[in-house]
Amino acid sequence: MITKETIEKVLDAARIEEVVGDFVDLKKRGTSLIGNCPFHNEKTPSFHVSVAKGIYKCFGCGAGGDSLKFVMELEKYTYPEAIRYLADKYHIGIEEVQRSPAQLAAQDKRESLYVLSSWAGKYFKEQLWTTENGQAIGLSYFKERGYREDIIKKFDLGYSPDQWTALSDAAVQHGFHKDFLKEIGLSIERDDGSIYDRFRGRVIFPIHNLTGRIIGFGGRTLKTEKSVPKYVNSPESDIYHKSDVLYGLNFAKKAIMDKDTCYLVEGYADVLSMHQAGVENVVSSSGTSLTTGQIRLISRFTKNVVILYDGDAAGIKASLRGTDMLLEEGLNVKVLLFPDGNDPDSYVQKYGSTIFKDYIASHQEDFIFYKTNILLKDTGGDPIKRAEVIREVVHSISLIPDEIKVSVFLQQCSHLLDIEERVLLTELNKMRLQKGKAQDKKDAAVSAKVNYSDMPPTDEPPADFFLTEHERSESGLQSTTGSSPITPEILQEREVVRILLNYGAEPAVWEGDGDIPVAPLLLSALDDITFEDRPSAFIVDVFRKKAEDFEIPEPKFFFSHDDKEVQDLAITCVSTPYELSPNWNDDKRKIYVSQEREHLKELTIQAVYRIKKRKVEKEMVKIREELKAHPSESDLEILLAKYQKLKEAEKLLGTFLGNIVVK
Ligand code: GTP
Ligand code: MN
Repeated sequence: MITKETIEKVLDAARIEEVVGDFVDLKKRGTSLIGNCPFHNEKTPSFHVSVAKGIYKCFGCGAGGDSLKFVMELEKYTYPEAIRYLADKYHIGIEEVQRSPAQLAAQDKRESLYVLSSWAGKYFKEQLWTTENGQAIGLSYFKERGYREDIIKKFDLGYSPDQWTALSDAAVQHGFHKDFLKEIGLSIERDDGSIYDRFRGRVIFPIHNLTGRIIGFGGRTLKTEKSVPKYVNSPESDIYHKSDVLYGLNFAKKAIMDKDTCYLVEGYADVLSMHQAGVENVVSSSGTSLTTGQIRLISRFTKNVVILYDGDAAGIKASLRGTDMLLEEGLNVKVLLFPDGNDPDSYVQKYGSTIFKDYIASHQEDFIFYKTNILLKDTGGDPIKRAEVIREVVHSISLIPDEIKVSVFLQQCSHLLDIEERVLLTELNKMRLQKGKAQDKKDAAVSAKVNYSDMPPTDEPPADFFLTEHERSESGLQSTTGSSPITPEILQEREVVRILLNYGAEPAVWEGDGDIPVAPLLLSALDDITFEDRPSAFIVDVFRKKAEDFEIPEPKFFFSHDDKEVQDLAITCVSTPYELSPNWNDDKRKIYVSQEREHLKELTIQAVYRIKKRKVEKEMVKIREELKAHPSESDLEILLAKYQKLKEAEKLLGTFLGNIVVK
C-alpha cells in the first residue's frame, strides 16, 4: 500500500495544467485555459482548466475534478494506479507500507497479484540479462531475431529457466503464497498439491495494462517441434481480463492519439518490430479475435484502425473475422496485407524500416472494398456464390452507422460487383428491417427503465414565448425589424439571453464546488457561436465583455437602454416570462416555474446543445451540397472525413438532448 505521505506529496506536486496538458492541447483564454474536452467528442472547446483552483471542468459533458480525478477518468485508472501515474510523472519515489509476506497475502488480493506479477516480471528479466543460460539462450534468441537492446528493455522481455520449479521456488522463498502463484497462472498445481512453472524454458513477453503494470505473460518456446505449443499465455485472473487488454497499448496510446490511427497486428513479435522501426501506434490482439471491450479501448484513442495481417490464407480469413464489430462501433477500418506470407515482424526484419514504412503507407485498402474483391475472386462466375458475396458485402455495409459512408460504399461496390446500386440498396434495407425489429425490442426494454418524473418540461419554448410586446402587436411572427421572420434559431438565441438575465449570476451548482456562476459557463460554451438575432447578439456581447472582468451585468442595465429592441428583449425575458406563454395551461406553468431553478443544468445544457446542433446541421447541409457537386477523389475523402466528424458531433448532441427531452 502506498503511504499517506507519498499520496500527499503527489497531490501537492501535481499541477492541473501539466497533468491535463499531457492529453489536451490547452490555450489560454482569460484567466483559465481551455481546450477540446477529452471526455466527449467536440470540435469547439468547452473544457476549462482553472490553474488557481487546480481543477478542470467541461461545460459540454459535465466532467470535472482535480488532477487525480482527471487521470482516473481519462485513463480509467484506479486510485492507486492514478497515484502511481502521477508519482511517476513528477519523479516522486513511492513509499509503500512495509508488510510481512503473511500480511501481504491477507491484504487486498488484487494488489498482491500486481505485486507478484511485477516481481515475476523482474525475475524473468534478471534471468535474461544476468544468468548464463538467460544470455546464451534467451537474449541470444531475441538478438538473432533482430531486436535491439533498447527494445528488449522497453518491453521488459525476459527468460524463464528451463527447470520445473525455478520461478515457483524463488517466489515461495520470497514470501509469495502458492495460491496467488496459481491464481495468475505462473505456477500450475499437480494432483499431489505440488506446483511447477508454467513458462519454463520460454522467452517471456510481459503484458502490461494501461498504466504500465504487468498483469500477465506470454511465453514463446524456443523449440521447433510441432507438438509444443508456440506460445503459452497467462490465464484470466483478477488482474488480467483478456477481453479488455490489447498487447502494447500502454506503449502505443500516445502515438495512436498523435497519428489518429491504430495499427492492429496479430502477434507480440509484430508489435516489437514495428516499435523498433519507429511505428509506435500499434497494438496486438495476441492471436485471438477482437472483443467489443478491446474495440472500445481503441476507440477511446482513435476512430481509425488499420488491420495488418499475414498475406496467407489464414491471415486473410482472420482479417475478415472480427471486423464486423469494428464497423459496428463506427470505426473506419482499413486492411493491409503483407506479401509472400510475411507478417509485419518478418517484413520489417527482412526489408528494414524505410521500406516497411513505405509499404504500410501505400498498401492500405478500405475494408469493404478489400472484402468485396477477396470474396469475388473465389466465385469463379458461379451465380449462387455471387449472390452469397453480395449479401456478405451488403451485410458489412449495413453495419456502418454513418449514412453518407454507407451510400458511398454502396455506390462503389455496385461497380465492383457489377450490379445496380438499387439492388444493393434493397438488400441493405431488408437487412436493416430485420435488425431493426430485433433492436426495437431492445430499445423498448431500455426506455421502460428511464424515469422522467423529476425532469422539467423541456419542450421547445412556444413560438411566441420571446416576442416583445411590440412584436406581438405586429402581424404574425415577425421580428422587430419587420423584415425577417422569427425563426427557431432566433428563439434559441433568445432562450440563451433569458437564461443569462434570469440565472446568469446563480451558482452552477452541478459544477462540483458550485462557485462558478452560470453566465461564464454558458458564454464559454457558446464561445464559437455568432448570434444572429440583433438584440440577442448585443446583450450576449455585453455579457462577454463584462465576463473578462469577472462581472455579470445586471438585467436592469438593459432595461433603460437606448436601443429599444434590446430594452424590450431584456424586459420580456425577466418579467415573469411564463405569463407570456398563453399556450401553456396553468398546471404545466406552475410546475415549470417551480422547477426551472432546480433544473438550471438541464436548462443551460439544452440551450447550448440546441444552438450547437443547429450549427452542426448547417455545416452538414453545406457538405452534402459539396458532395453532390462531384468533388475530386481527394476532396471527397476530406469531405467525408469532415462529414463523419460532424455526424459524430450531431449524434452526441442528439443523444444528450434525447436524454433530457421529455417526449
Ligand atoms: P513469432 O513466431 O515468434 O514471430 O510469433 P508471432 O508473434 O508472429 O506469432 P504468430 O503470428 O504465430 O501468432 C500470433 C499470436 O497468436 C502470438 O503472438 C500469440 O499471442 C498467439 N499464439 C500463437 N501461437 C499460439 C499458441 O500456440 N497458443 C496460444 N495460446 N497463442 C498462440
Ligand atoms: Mn511472427
